[in-house]
Order: sequence, then structure tokens, then C-alpha cells
Amino acid sequence: MEFVLYEVKDRIAIITINRESALNALNSQVLDELSETLDNVDLEQVRCLILTGAGEKSFVAGADIAEMSTLTKKEGEAFGKKGNDVFRKLETFPIPVIAAVNGYALGGGCEISMSCDIRICSENAVFGQPEAGLGITPGFGGTQRLARLVSPGYAKQMIYTARNIKAAEALRIGLVNDVIGATADEAGNVTATAKENLMAAAEKMANGIAMQAPIAVRNCKKAINEGLQTDIDKAIVIEEKLFGDCFETEDQKAGMGNFLEKDKEKKLKVVPFKNR
Ligand code: CAA
Repeated sequence: MEFVLYEVKDRIAIITINRESALNALNSQVLDELSETLDNVDLEQVRCLILTGAGEKSFVAGADIAEMSTLTKKEGEAFGKKGNDVFRKLETFPIPVIAAVNGYALGGGCEISMSCDIRICSENAVFGQPEAGLGITPGFGGTQRLARLVSPGYAKQMIYTARNIKAAEALRIGLVNDVIGATADEAGNVTATAKENLMAAAEKMANGIAMQAPIAVRNCKKAINEGLQTDIDKAIVIEEKLFGDCFETEDQKAGMGNFLEKDKEKKLKVVPFKNR
């Protein structure tokens, strides 16, 4: 693949959008490669994904403006569908996806991060939906997911004014869970960049997820995502079914068995959970 890197580290995997010369902007090829990468994730082994961008400056600076500049109405709609299909694949991916946002997350960049389960970012991250200034609407889910993630009022303000926000504001409005900075020694020399610390934090979180029972984690993702799309009466039935689905699995037997184990050593031991 030319624009997408894929690296497996034991039970987690890192997908890197690697088009640094265009600040990792999403053209059709990047979207196709991303879709193919997701199709090829080995779900027998991998339990959590991290999505990031190449370099320290940009996560994803949006959909490719050069490619979009000459599209007809029909082609514009098809390009929107192409992005939406990939982002929906990411959103409904069976295992959790953490967006490690290293710098600019604008337009399609903000939108792809919102298709992930969890967002953490570096202190130099900038989020925004600049589309209104380009004469278009957000087209890869921004009008829908931003309003669902932060308040509708804040989403409308960001989208109508096309104003970018910095990491601290993204944290305040709940768009990201954490902001990670660089570290320095006593003399002020940088010992680890914000990007390095961000990736370390993302991997730590991903490994924490990968340690839990994978069938349970997948069912939690499904229950939360599907439940959010419906009313509470239907949502709790979704939960009941996915809760019930966990029983009689090896994971449930081992997880509860370990807890009930009188031997303290065994009680604390990590359960050899099985992937589905
Ligand atoms: N599409 C295509 N190319 C892009 C790009 C984009 N979204 N963002 C950056 N690039 C390219 C630039 O054209 C430039 O290429 P050249 O070196 O060949 O000229 C290279 O990346 C570096 O960019 P800059 O020189 O502009 O870097 P900068 O540091 O001065 O500015 C920036 C950085 C503020 C992020 C600026 O690049 C920028 O504003 N980018 C566009 C952001 C944007 O508007 N994104 C939304 C796109 S629309 C969208 O995403 C629609 C949708 O919902 C589907």
C-alpha cells in the first residue's frame, strides 16, 4: 500500500495514514487503502486498533481539496458515500478503535476521528470543520457525529463559523478524552515528543483493552453503538441480548471462575481469554 501503514504489536495494531506531503489528506486512494486494511485485520489475533497519521504535524488535514475541486454534484455525492462507507466500517468495526490525533484533524480528519471509539490527542492538535468556508458541507459524517458527540449547539457553532479549536477546547467540550504533551528533563531538553508520548498513551490504553475478555469488549461496543441509535426501551433489550450472549463462553467461565478462585495468586492472574 502506498498511503496506509499497518503494524501489529502482539494483540494490538496500528494503522497509520501515511501521506505526509499532503498532511495525510484523504483522497480516493487513501480511502480505498484504508478500507482494504480494515478488511484484512486478523480478528483472531488483534483486539484493539489505533488510528494515527504520519509525522508530528498532522493527523489528517481533511478530504483532498484538489481532488474535490472539479467534482460534479453526482460525483460529489459519490465521494461523500465513499468516505461515509469507510468511516462507517471503522465505526462498526468489531473491535475498539482509538484515534491518536497527532496535530491537524480538520474536515475529514475530525470526521474520521469521530468514527473511532475513543479520541486522545497531542497538545498541538487542532480540530475543526472548515467546510463551510470551502463552499461545501462536512461530507464524511461531520454534520451527524459532531452533534451527537458534543452538544448540538457547539457542533453548529463549529460548523457554521468554520472555526478551528485547539486541544484544550476539544477536551473541554468532550471531543477528546485526553491531551498528551511532550516531556522534558530538568534542563528543559525534550526527552519525548508529544507524538511519542501520544503513541505510548494510545498503546497503553489499547493494551488495557486487549487484556479484557474480547467477546465481552466486542459486545460492549455493539451495545453502546446500537443502543445510542434507538430509544431506551429498545436499547436495554439490545443490552440484555448481548449480555446473555456472553454466558457459556470460555471467557465468562474463566473470568468469573478466576474471581471466585480462593487462591489469591490465581484470583489475580490474567485470564487466557479467547477471541471469537
Ligand atoms: N487537501 C489537499 N491537500 C492538502 C490538504 C487537503 N485537505 N491539506 C493540506 N494539503 C497540502 C497542501 O496543499 C500542501 O501541499 P503542497 O506542499 O504541495 O503545496 C501541503 O499539504 C502542506 O500544506 P500547507 O502548505 O497548507 O501547510 P500549512 O502548515 O501552511 O497549513 C493547514 C496547514 C492549516 C492544515 C492547511 O494545509 C489547511 O488549511 N489545509 C486544509 C484543511 C481543510 O480545509 N480541510 C477540510 C477539507 S474539506 C473536507 O474534509 C470535506 C469533507 O468533509 C469530506
